[in-house]
Amino acid sequence: MADHRYDVIIIGSGAAGLTAALNLADTKRVVVLAKGGLAEGSTAWAQGGIAAVLEPGDTFESHIEDTMVAGAGLNDRRTVELVVEHAPAAIERLASLGVPFNPTEGEGHDRWHLTREGGHSHRRIVHVDDATGWAVQQALLAAAEAHPNINLVADMAAIDLVTGRHCDHYSGDGRVRGVYALHRPSGKVALFTARATILATGGAGRVYQFSTAPRGASGDGIAMAWRAGARVSNMEFNQFHPTCLYNLEVKNFLITEAMRGEGGILKLPPEAPNGGHRFMPDFDPRAELAPRDVVARAIDHEIKRLGLDYVHLDISHREPAFIEHHFPTILAKLLTLGIDIRKEPIPVVPAMHYTCGGVVIDLDGRTDLPGLYAAGEVTQSGLHGANRLASNSLLECFVFGEAAAKHILRSWDDLPDPGVVREWDESRVTDSDEDIVVQHNWREIRRFMWDYVGIVRTTKRLERALHRVTLLQREVEDYYGNYRITADLIELRNLIVTAGLIVRSALSRHESRGLHYTLDYPEMLAQAKDTILVP
Ligand code: FAD
Ligand code: SIN
Repeated sequence: MADHRYDVIIIGSGAAGLTAALNLADTKRVVVLAKGGLAEGSTAWAQGGIAAVLEPGDTFESHIEDTMVAGAGLNDRRTVELVVEHAPAAIERLASLGVPFNPTEGEGHDRWHLTREGGHSHRRIVHVDDATGWAVQQALLAAAEAHPNINLVADMAAIDLVTGRHCDHYSGDGRVRGVYALHRPSGKVALFTARATILATGGAGRVYQFSTAPRGASGDGIAMAWRAGARVSNMEFNQFHPTCLYNLEVKNFLITEAMRGEGGILKLPPEAPNGGHRFMPDFDPRAELAPRDVVARAIDHEIKRLGLDYVHLDISHREPAFIEHHFPTILAKLLTLGIDIRKEPIPVVPAMHYTCGGVVIDLDGRTDLPGLYAAGEVTQSGLHGANRLASNSLLECFVFGEAAAKHILRSWDDLPDPGVVREWDESRVTDSDEDIVVQHNWREIRRFMWDYVGIVRTTKRLERALHRVTLLQREVEDYYGNYRITADLIELRNLIVTAGLIVRSALSRHESRGLHYTLDYPEMLAQAKDTILVP
């Protein structure tokens, strides 16, 4: 087996991974691994935009305050300040890489058009129509592809981090020396070693049956870091986006929050009692622009109370030209499904969207393990607290991708050579003749997480979920120990670890705060405290 040696390994080719790569590559040889195509993470799917203070009248203090209010007091103020204050420079850098942010539409605004989303007290979201993430992903990829020091490797699924346990001379120092990864087309396991490794593997949206996230969001980085010995924090805070398209064929198409920012209203469908009623003002004075946890819970409440399949999001009162200009992607997609959003409302339901918790990092992107950094949705940096403010997450990727890269460059001389690492051992496994086990367990985990660990929780349901996690984890580990590794098995193994971390975190929080709402502890405690799980 070849040992691929680099200066730095980056696992993940989304906003966080590519930002880190571009900040390292002038002096370091970098490899970027992606488990599928290079543009298959959440970054490419982002719709609404990126938050930054860019207009006279808006202030850092206001963006910080909005972030902390959404986060229900659990945010780390130092992280929030770092990210908010670095936001304008991050946007400028993206523009200089060619991201074509929409320009302003009239007089009195700054250079770019700024839209608005829930929880923001000011217009501060730059965007590229309603497909911002795609434009960002393309610009970052083009810059990385053009750099001679960056090797982009698709279809290379990381299995586990390499630590002192995998060295010829055992070392218990916890230092990460690289990663074992499955080359999917050949089925062979490769070894990558480096002085530093950055996890940029995104979130775990697919732990739930209904999710806006792409298939690869299976919590791989969180599970790998956990197995290697890093702490994981705040996993109970799973953000459900209020408005995912309800369609039996298309299960994970997001309807951007910017639609509510531009006047979209939420109504009961005509068949409901009081059909057509605009219900959000009954729940919160901020109505459709309340933070996501509030809007998602209100929709969930109405759906359950009235036995509905969905509620309606309606923008049809705005001019057709306005809708065509602002939401061309959503308009085109929904027309293919027979819904003309210029004339009729959209059926929507909440769906799992974003993982607020993750691997604990400091302001330099360092994890607990020497040599291991992390950036983006895989982390718990202190930015989001108990609930992420809309459009703060791409921003986090840019700020922490750069912070991790800068720390590696600063401390290069103190980062030891990875040494000699043992090869991947396949001598005791065989090919599975029971792939049905993998498919069945995938479905089962996602189903019970949706039913028992959803928007509104109870201790009894969480205990049921924990029982199932424990049984499945044993079954999956047994399977992993006996059969040759496949991409589906890698994801299943990570999915069950991540589900276990979510359930244990949720059980240990005896209050309702932000995204964690439980009928057994409906009040919020006076003191905000992170949930920290130690391996
Ligand atoms: P990702 O972009 O998810 O990239 C993860 C990378 O890791 C991928 O390259 C993947 O292949 C790789 N990877 C994962 N596991 C492995 C493995 N085992 N081995 C090798 N590689 C691996 N945020 C905003 O701020 N604004 C928005 O408008 C917005 N809209 C969104 C819309 C949707 C539909 C979704 C799902 C999310 C949205 N978000 C938005 C959230 C935001 O897109 C993500 O938080 C962000 O893009 C995460 O970037 P990342 O670099 O951390 O990970
Ligand atoms: C959206 O466009 O509604 C998603 C924004 C986000 O997740 O930050």
